[in-house]
Amino acid sequence: MRDRLVSPKISEEEEIIEGSLRPRRLAEYIGQDKIKDNLSILLEAARRRNESSIDHVLLYGPPGLGKTTLCNIIAAEMGVNLRTTSGPAIEHAGDLASILTALQPGEVLFIDEIHRLARPVEERLYSAMEDFALDVMIGKGPSAKSLRLSLPPFTVVGATTRVGSLTAPLRDRFGAIYRMEYYDIDALKHIVTRSARILKVPAEIDGIAEIASRARGTPRIVNRLLKRVRDYAQVRADGMITRDVARAALDAMEVDEIGLDQTDRHMLLTIIQKFNGGPVGLDTLAASTSEDSETIEDVYEPYLLQLGFIARTPRGRIAMRAAYQHLGLVPPQADGPTLWTPQP
Ligand SMILES: Nc1ncnc2c1ncn2[C@@H]1O[C@H](COP(=O)(O)OP(=O)(O)OP(=O)(O)O)[C@@H](O)[C@H]1O
Ligand SMILES: [Mg+2]
Repeated sequence: MRDRLVSPKISEEEEIIEGSLRPRRLAEYIGQDKIKDNLSILLEAARRRNESSIDHVLLYGPPGLGKTTLCNIIAAEMGVNLRTTSGPAIEHAGDLASILTALQPGEVLFIDEIHRLARPVEERLYSAMEDFALDVMIGKGPSAKSLRLSLPPFTVVGATTRVGSLTAPLRDRFGAIYRMEYYDIDALKHIVTRSARILKVPAEIDGIAEIASRARGTPRIVNRLLKRVRDYAQVRADGMITRDVARAALDAMEVDEIGLDQTDRHMLLTIIQKFNGGPVGLDTLAASTSEDSETIEDVYEPYLLQLGFIARTPRGRIAMRAAYQHLGLVPPQADGPTLWTPQP
């Protein structure tokens, strides 16, 4: 995938800077009010019961919405250490055993991309999460014995962009499952304002609003746009981010008023013009846009679905009326093909 300004995925360079913009405590975390409410109850209840761990928490949703940030906050609010790993990093059951046996009581174990855990690892995790116990095999062959080690209480926070790929038994081990939502404009304005303050970038309210409205509901993107507009303001203007400066900067980067870029427009036009509005299968769409299907599914589609620009049907993706209108095209007579049922 080439570098896209509006990709919700993190770049290497960003990984370093992101730390400075990351809220550290729940009170600083903007938006996602439902999750924040539930989480503070969970934390407070554990505190009152004097328990050192809380229910295991699963966070899911598109990239860049704040899952990693929230996990760090959970550990900070509990006043415990955070251990971070990821599904693909734990290759063998033995790797998991060494991670788990090294945990201190109450610690938070963050498993990013938890849908990518290897099956044998995942199966070991079940009893660890449920009973704080780990079954290990001692010896080999007929004399091998299974030994149950008990573990200190700990909290697993799992994060995934693909909750559908999680097995039911794993999902069931989480006491709290939270879906991250796209952020509304007010929350995004709030985030830009906060980031501008931290980065010491002078910005007017209208300039902030312009950036917020083109950020696809995603904090990572809003922060990235802010930095690019800041550069533009310094080179092409007097450094102040006004509405005109923000508009000119974002237009120059070909990010339109609702945050779509060339790639999105190309994908929509492909469905509409090459495939007559769809339905077109994911793999066919991937081949005709030279993107891989996983990237389309995880990175491009979620926002287009959220906008109601496309819909997923059993026979493939279709372009909706709103997409035609946004692109200045005439929608077909009937409101899209009728032979489909929406998928959950
Ligand atoms: N609620 C928030 N308030 C302020 N800033 C936020 C918030 N959520 C996320 N951010 C900012 O957005 C950036 C991206 O968030 P984060 O890395 O937590 O996303 P993620 O969901 O883990 O993404 P990925 O799926 O790619 O791992 C953070 O560095 C932070 O600066
Ligand atoms: Mg993350």
